[in-house]
Amino acid sequence: MSVATERSALSSVPMLDLKAQYSAIKEEILEAVHEVLENQQFILGPAVAELERNIAAYCGCRHAIGVSSGTDALLISLMAEGIGPGDEVITTPYTFFATAGSVARLGATPVFVDICPDTYNINPSAIEAQITSRTRAIMPVHLFGQCADMDPILDVAGRHNLAVIEDAAQAIGAEYCGRRAGSMGHYGCFSFFPSKNLGGAGDGGMVVTNDPVRADTLRLLRVHGAKPKYHHQMLGGNFRLDTMQAAIVNVKLRYLDQWTAARQAHAKRYRELFEQNGAVATGAVRLPYEMRESRHIYNQFVIRVEPRDDLQTHLRQCGVGSEVYYPVPAHLQRCFEAFGYREHDFPNSERAAAETVALPVYPELADASLTRIVDAVGDFLAARKSAWLPHPPLVDAGGILNGFPAECSSPTSISANL
Ligand SMILES: Cc1ncc(COP(=O)(O)O)c(C=O)c1O
Repeated sequence: MSVATERSALSSVPMLDLKAQYSAIKEEILEAVHEVLENQQFILGPAVAELERNIAAYCGCRHAIGVSSGTDALLISLMAEGIGPGDEVITTPYTFFATAGSVARLGATPVFVDICPDTYNINPSAIEAQITSRTRAIMPVHLFGQCADMDPILDVAGRHNLAVIEDAAQAIGAEYCGRRAGSMGHYGCFSFFPSKNLGGAGDGGMVVTNDPVRADTLRLLRVHGAKPKYHHQMLGGNFRLDTMQAAIVNVKLRYLDQWTAARQAHAKRYRELFEQNGAVATGAVRLPYEMRESRHIYNQFVIRVEPRDDLQTHLRQCGVGSEVYYPVPAHLQRCFEAFGYREHDFPNSERAAAETVALPVYPELADASLTRIVDAVGDFLAARKSAWLPHPPLVDAGGILNGFPAECSSPTSISANL
């Protein structure tokens, strides 16, 4: 029996185990659902207002507006800025499709800026060169649970009078220099998609803002722009968060910090194990890079390994779940062909799309499972001696980065790859 077959004979390690989470809080969830059913206030019921208060406080923001999904949180924020045909929005190509998709759905043009190869977030120093008279907003994404380098982004946005819409769908509770994800720009957009750190039992989302005027506009757009009922001031949509989802997310919010701490502990343990097996020292595996003054909430634990696809096949054979986020960067998506982007336009994003894989990091993951995952990666590398060769250096337009991209981040906010 091969090592891989032997390992897969043991119980498998899924990428995510929502049943484990549910079984721990089942009684509270059922009670919350029961209350909604008893009240029959399914549309913008009391649980929605309660969740809005809770999320606003959690994010350190004055206002929170519950919406139908993370995608709609982005869309409604762009609509609130009046963004449409002829406008440009600067964002990253290395993200879930919804980021650029929501811009394009409004007839505006997503203008991409490549990522920093270590944090996978937009390179702030490359933004200004893309600003034109048509630019209306910057949409940084806090990918995998770590904030983008926001100070230089806010600085360039302020100088050019641009709105900042944070795509914080993967980063609830993440912090940048003491500030919470979503609270730094004009809008912060969250998703309650079930796989997120704070997930519902279906779709849901939230927009946070400190601006009372923008908050009122978002509330209006959420209900087809109607105020009062049946009198439509603006062209909005049905972007309401279901009361049932809000009730469930309210329960889960009580556990969020505890779950985040478990994810962070898993990330620390991964580092120890990968260091012990030599994969880090040889450069065969690149671990997630943590900025010094950031609170990384590890929605995903993403490593860089080559050949990535072969590793994924091996992990599958070992019964270990993994996922590629995202195999095709936004600028190369077929539906964006008309924007005229080509292969090699954003080398860091394309390389990340080809070389990275996310390993399980959900809170309930057992230590034995973590060991098993790292062993499975170690077996793969041992079987392919060539894979132990260090990665070619990460290169940007500015030159070789050596893993410490001086042009990507302020020197005070970045630490070593701990
Ligand atoms: C970065 C990012 N943006 C936007 C979204 C869209 O959120 P939703 O799936 O709730 O529409 C997601 C989640 O899938 C995401 O990860």
